[in-house]
Amino acid sequence: MNIIDIINKKRKCGTLTDEEIKYIIDGYLSEEIKDYQMSALLMAILINDMDNEEIYSLTKYMADSGEKLDLSPLGDNVVDKHSTGGVGDKTTLIIAPLVASCGVKVAKMSGRGLGHTGGTIDKLESIPGFTVNLTEDDFLKQVNDINVAITSQTENVAIADKKIYALRDVTGTVESIPLIASSIMSKKIALGAKKLVLDVKVGKGALLKNINAARRLSNLMIDIGKHNGIEVICILTNMDIPLGNNVGNALEVKEAMEILNEHKQGHLRDLCVELSSYMVALGLNIPYEESKEKVLNNLDNGLAYNKFLELVKTQHGNIDELPEESNKYEIKSKTAGYLVDIDAYKLGILSMSLGAGRENKEDTIDYSAGIIVNKNINDYVNEGDVIMTLYTNKEITNVDSTIFKISDKKIEDEKLIYEIIK
Ligand code: URA
Repeated sequence: MNIIDIINKKRKCGTLTDEEIKYIIDGYLSEEIKDYQMSALLMAILINDMDNEEIYSLTKYMADSGEKLDLSPLGDNVVDKHSTGGVGDKTTLIIAPLVASCGVKVAKMSGRGLGHTGGTIDKLESIPGFTVNLTEDDFLKQVNDINVAITSQTENVAIADKKIYALRDVTGTVESIPLIASSIMSKKIALGAKKLVLDVKVGKGALLKNINAARRLSNLMIDIGKHNGIEVICILTNMDIPLGNNVGNALEVKEAMEILNEHKQGHLRDLCVELSSYMVALGLNIPYEESKEKVLNNLDNGLAYNKFLELVKTQHGNIDELPEESNKYEIKSKTAGYLVDIDAYKLGILSMSLGAGRENKEDTIDYSAGIIVNKNINDYVNEGDVIMTLYTNKEITNVDSTIFKISDKKIEDEKLIYEIIK
């Protein structure tokens, strides 16, 4: 077997065998297969696709390429959740304690942000003292004791995926559905998930821009789940506009607390309620309607917020000392009319440039930096009204004025949830 024959086979739309896929993963990890050869193969896969058998093999060998976690000592009411990434997506900060407060165990390993999308671990690190590097024993013990723990994914899980993902990021091969499906599911298999709710984002601020692509990705992840004994529910959600009003690490923690403690309403809360209801239904094996009632009750009666405070305290965070916002710049509307668009991708890029994200892996984050969007879609805006407020320690030179669109007519309410696929 050799890698050039395999690249040529995929270039000519051939189907790779299980042995060939094992050879690719082993060879890439041992560095016999070079980055340039892997890049050529990834591009051939992006263009010519893979069938389900190829995808199952790729997922299996990536899952087997590192350590595996066994969550079975925690019982069978453990549920995981994953989002394909977006702007202002602080759902894990809300959902993990909310679902845990309903009696479901949430053992969550999360990642950092890269590019225009944020990551849960960076958001949690904006809470002074919060430990994101739990040992495996401490992680499992905490889930057992208080039903919830959030830690950063260890370096040793699905090592092949980590290496391939880094290469995809710089070779224009991220947006391949078989590669995304196998990447996400290999990590979930390695992390011991048995019940999983996936938030598949669609739109300008997401990896996938159209609903058909999101449908195929969802069906594939469900099939991979079945093949590996994981029950998967996919919720296809809108990521044309950012989720909630705050973007940036400490600002997003504050908005999560507004949902948990101050009954803030809107899209972000609605999405958290939906995702949590499916997680609780899966975890407790109860009908969706019953679990939604529990979720809404625990949001209202303070149990979810208490669980959030317990989570922060157990992981040594001091929620009273969130970093204060730095310099403030108000962006005002030059015209009057209805706010009809907030471009999630452009807003993510702006937030990153303010210091809230990393342009390169080694960049450090300014936890206080970010954006508050002061208006919602279809709000009427007068000339001179503040549409968004930027927080940064950097010099602001110019701000992309095409992030927002103002029109003399309202738009039809955009759907938040497109569909649920099980
Ligand atoms: N998230 C992942 O973990 N992998 C991908 O390929 C895309 C999103």
